[in-house]
Amino acid sequence: MAVLHPYKLRQIKSPLNYIGGKAKLLDQILPLFPKEIDNFIDLFAGGCNVGINVNANKVYCNDILTYLIEMYKSFQQNDLDATIQHIESRVREFNLSLTNEDGYKKIRSLYNEQKNPLDLFVLIAFTFNHQIRFNNSHEFNNPFGRERSSFNATMKQNLEKFIIRIKETNIAFVNVCFNHFDFSNFGSNDFVYCDPPYLITTGTYNDGKRGFKGWTEKEEKELLQVLDNLDSNNIKFALSNVLEHKGKSNSILKNWLAQKPNYKVNFINYNYSNSNYQTIVRDKNASVEVLITNYEPERPPKEQTLFDNIF
Ligand SMILES: C[S@@+](CC[C@H](N)C(=O)[O-])C[C@H]1O[C@@H](n2cnc3c(N)ncnc32)[C@H](O)[C@@H]1O
Repeated sequence: MAVLHPYKLRQIKSPLNYIGGKAKLLDQILPLFPKEIDNFIDLFAGGCNVGINVNANKVYCNDILTYLIEMYKSFQQNDLDATIQHIESRVREFNLSLTNEDGYKKIRSLYNEQKNPLDLFVLIAFTFNHQIRFNNSHEFNNPFGRERSSFNATMKQNLEKFIIRIKETNIAFVNVCFNHFDFSNFGSNDFVYCDPPYLITTGTYNDGKRGFKGWTEKEEKELLQVLDNLDSNNIKFALSNVLEHKGKSNSILKNWLAQKPNYKVNFINYNYSNSNYQTIVRDKNASVEVLITNYEPERPPKEQTLFDNIF
């Protein structure tokens, strides 16, 4: 029988099916994290796939999306059964289904009037691609997920596990822009993970149209400065990103790396099961997914050779 790593045994999937979520990459990312973590900061928490699965004494999940963080706080504070009952009673009350667009629009209007944090989850369940999208007046405006999105049994099970995990973890939810996060009380046993919007890919959260701040070269450079400051304060960090994507190259990131010989580029195998870096760069549409760390991750020797000698 195969032996499961401790991190694998605990692993759960966020019920949000978050765009850009790291659920599928956790097996590659988590083993690259420091073995002992006192405070873990998931600075761009999104669906919380990472924060919820990490081993640390205390976890901070931060995101700029105020309503998302309010929903997590609500999961944390309310009774699990009451939360599930609320969601299921909304599904009944509005007759929500894979085809009832009218019901979806009604619950969406109600959410926009009242902003009940648990109703946001109902919307996420039935909305197109499960995407969270607000307009500049902070109204949820994502369309209906006809024939695709619903509160099904798998989502319910993932939600229950997620809420139980939130309740049993020492976790704080924070809602600030990444460059306002206060790191002054953190030190060398703490670890900051960053999974920002990727500058050279398109996601709803970097088009600047969600009523919240978008992601441009300005934010990219500010984040790299935040990471350098962490490094100067002996705080470990890891940054997820892509160096190349569909023929585009992130020159800001590459230039930064060229000036930082102590940072380590760990390649993540995104689309390819059995390939090396040379094969990936020859494919013009490939994504070169990386985890940049300011420490040398402890890894078994086999994994270290996979993408050797690329810079
Ligand atoms: C790629 S997603 C994170 C996905 C997450 N790691 C997961 O596995 O579910 C990026 C997140 O960054 C958030 N974000 C965008 N700009 C931000 C900012 N200025 N400060 C903090 N969070 C921000 C977005 O709202 C989005 O949730």
